[in-house]
Amino acid sequence: AAVSEALADGVLNVGTNAEFPPFEYVNDAGEPDGFDIALIKAIGEKLGVEVQVDNMEFASLVSSIGSKIDASIAGMTVTDERKASVDFSNSYYTAVQYVILPEGSAIATADDLKGKAIGVQLGTTGDFIAEEIEDATVSQYNKAVDAVNDLVNGRLDCVIIDKNPAMVFESKFEGKVTAVDGAQFNFEPEDYAIAMPKGDTVLVEQVNTALQELIDDGTFDALVSQYIEE
Ligand code: ARG
Repeated sequence: AAVSEALADGVLNVGTNAEFPPFEYVNDAGEPDGFDIALIKAIGEKLGVEVQVDNMEFASLVSSIGSKIDASIAGMTVTDERKASVDFSNSYYTAVQYVILPEGSAIATADDLKGKAIGVQLGTTGDFIAEEIEDATVSQYNKAVDAVNDLVNGRLDCVIIDKNPAMVFESKFEGKVTAVDGAQFNFEPEDYAIAMPKGDTVLVEQVNTALQELIDDGTFDALVSQYIEE
C-alpha cells in the first residue's frame, strides 16, 4: 500500500493543545494525556509509526499542519473554514457548545446572552459563536481554565466551551458554576475529527482505516469509557 510522505520517517508528529480535558490535558508527569492522545497513539500503533505529540496553542494548529506538524488531534470541530486549509478524518465524536454560568445566574436563553461579557478559548468554535452574539463583549483566552477562573471571580457573565470540558470544569469548580447544554441556546452539534494536510489523501485513508479498526476491535469504546464521562 502507498505510504504518506508524512509517515515516511516512521514518525507521526501530532499537534494538540492540552488545555481541553478530558480530550487533552497535561498529566501529573507533565505529559500531554487524555482521550485524543490515547486515540492517536493507538492509531500510530496500527500504522506502525511512532507518535510524537507537540503541545501548542490551539489557534496555531491548523496553520502548522503540513509544516511544523503532520496532523492535529485537539477535539477539533470540522468547519467549512478549516476545510479550506486542511483535510479531516472521519468524525470520531459529536459534541455541542455548552454555556458555563456562575451559580444563580439568570441567563437561560439565547436572548439572554446578548450584551453579556463572554469568555472563550481563542480561535475555537465557541469563540466564533460568541462573536456573533449581539453586543456581547468577548474575551479570548489561550487557556480555557483562565476563562473559568475569571467567571468565578465575577469578571465574566458566562463561558462558551464544548460540552465535555464544560462538564469537567463544572466538577472542578463545584458549587460555583453550572454547565448548561447549548441546545438550550440553539447551538448546533459539532463533529470532532483529526486534521491533516490538505490533499494528503493517502494519510487520510490510512488514518480512517486505523480508526475503523479501533472501532471494530473495541479499543475505541474502551478509550471512551476510560476517559470520557458522558
Ligand atoms: N471544538 C472546538 C473547536 O474546534 C474547541 C476545541 C479546543 N481544543 C483544544 N484542544 N483546546 O474549535
